[in-house]
Amino acid sequence: MTTEQQPRAQWLGRWGFVLAATGSAVGLGNIWKFPYMTGEHGGGAFVLVYLVCILAVGVPVMMTEIAFGRRGRGSPIDAVRRVVTESGRSSAWSLLGWMAMLCGFMILSFYVVVAGWSFSYLWKMLSGGLNGSGVDDMAAIFVANNENPFNLGFWSTLVTLATMLIVGKGVQAGIEKSVSWMMPGMVIMLLILIGYGAFSGGFGEAWSFLFSFNTGSLSSEGMLAALGHAFFTLSLASGAILTYGSYLPDGASIGRTTFSVAIADTLVALMAGLAIFPIIFANGMSPEGGPGLLFMSLPLAFQAMPLGTLFGVLFFVMLSMAALTSSISMVEATVSWLVDNKGITRRTAAWGTGIVLWLVSTLAMLSFNLGADWTLGGRHFFDWLDYLTSRWMMPLGGLGMVLLAGFVLKSETFREELGLAPHWHVLWLFMVRYVSPLGILVIFVDALGIARLQFGLHWPWLLAVLALITVIGELLSPRLRRTLAG
Ligand code: PHE
Repeated sequence: MTTEQQPRAQWLGRWGFVLAATGSAVGLGNIWKFPYMTGEHGGGAFVLVYLVCILAVGVPVMMTEIAFGRRGRGSPIDAVRRVVTESGRSSAWSLLGWMAMLCGFMILSFYVVVAGWSFSYLWKMLSGGLNGSGVDDMAAIFVANNENPFNLGFWSTLVTLATMLIVGKGVQAGIEKSVSWMMPGMVIMLLILIGYGAFSGGFGEAWSFLFSFNTGSLSSEGMLAALGHAFFTLSLASGAILTYGSYLPDGASIGRTTFSVAIADTLVALMAGLAIFPIIFANGMSPEGGPGLLFMSLPLAFQAMPLGTLFGVLFFVMLSMAALTSSISMVEATVSWLVDNKGITRRTAAWGTGIVLWLVSTLAMLSFNLGADWTLGGRHFFDWLDYLTSRWMMPLGGLGMVLLAGFVLKSETFREELGLAPHWHVLWLFMVRYVSPLGILVIFVDALGIARLQFGLHWPWLLAVLALITVIGELLSPRLRRTLAG
């Protein structure tokens, strides 16, 4: 193995990790998925639950992942193996690393297709290909865009190429350099778009849609969606954050960086809502546009507005940049693993990964045209990738990670790596032992169809169960007390 001999790359700048990890976190999940999910699940109530999920599950899992990465200084597979062997545990746990790496790769395989939509809509905006007079026209344009495999394939191939080009250049010269201008750039564009939305006349309505918490509209489905989305939007359990964490310099505070990333990610999601919904409301459209919200409703709204084309172009440039800074993070785990273990250069690793990715993503892309009939259990290949990663692999990977950190590994490892003040450490431990696992288990219970949880009714019960598990857990193990003491 060459890892041990070669000094591993580290982020160059003070903000290198935060920018790159925020770039990974902020993506289609924030700008495309979050607004339409909020629209479908009733607005403010969904936003509130989402915020709770980010805090209770997302933040603790992210801290754990970064700690694994920095402690193990390697790709997810190598890093997890090193950290568990340090505690004298079986290296079979590195299966978690394998799953994370595979998960990132699988997400990217369908992500490039959606990112391709964004690129192609940018082109349509520029070339005047989005003229239509109603939602039906826009839907027809969307369908036509998907129907031709060469067209759709062209755009997803372009995304794959751009991703591999950046990753092939390396951690500093490729990833860090590109996020250092793309992230500020996309935030500025988003701010301009919010300003534009503020003058559209729909701002007040959008504000109250996003921020008035009407708990009556809270459904169990919305809660689960929020929980699953917390994983996706923070790029958890898919190798991205762990690998980026492996380049984090020793002195950096994991707690502080995690909060910076989580806050930035959440702010961008809310800002995306504040940019999109005013335009939607000002044009009398429904917020419940579903996945087509950005690609059907929004272009139509832009058409009806002054300087709409200009701002439409700005919007899709922003979306494309957000997507690219995420896609590069999804393959970094695979590329770094290849470089560390197979003795090949980064460039070769990137292009090799790119070819496999291209093949798999082409299959995903075909779900929209030639392969429209290829379904298994009612799902297309594209849907399977999404379903397996978001419903199973991410929660399972996150669960494994927090259970390892909370119960299995030596407590010094995380005490040293996280370097938190004792009361914060206890809080983190409490979260990774009880709150996060319980939250994640709820996703499985639902995915297995064991029970349709009625959260609204059963919140007090859930809390009671949590308290009970905590008491039993702490009675069985004296570790928390030791942690407090030392
Ligand atoms: N967080 C990204 C988004 O919101 C998606 C992502 C998932 C990126 C997993 C990396 C790993 O779009």
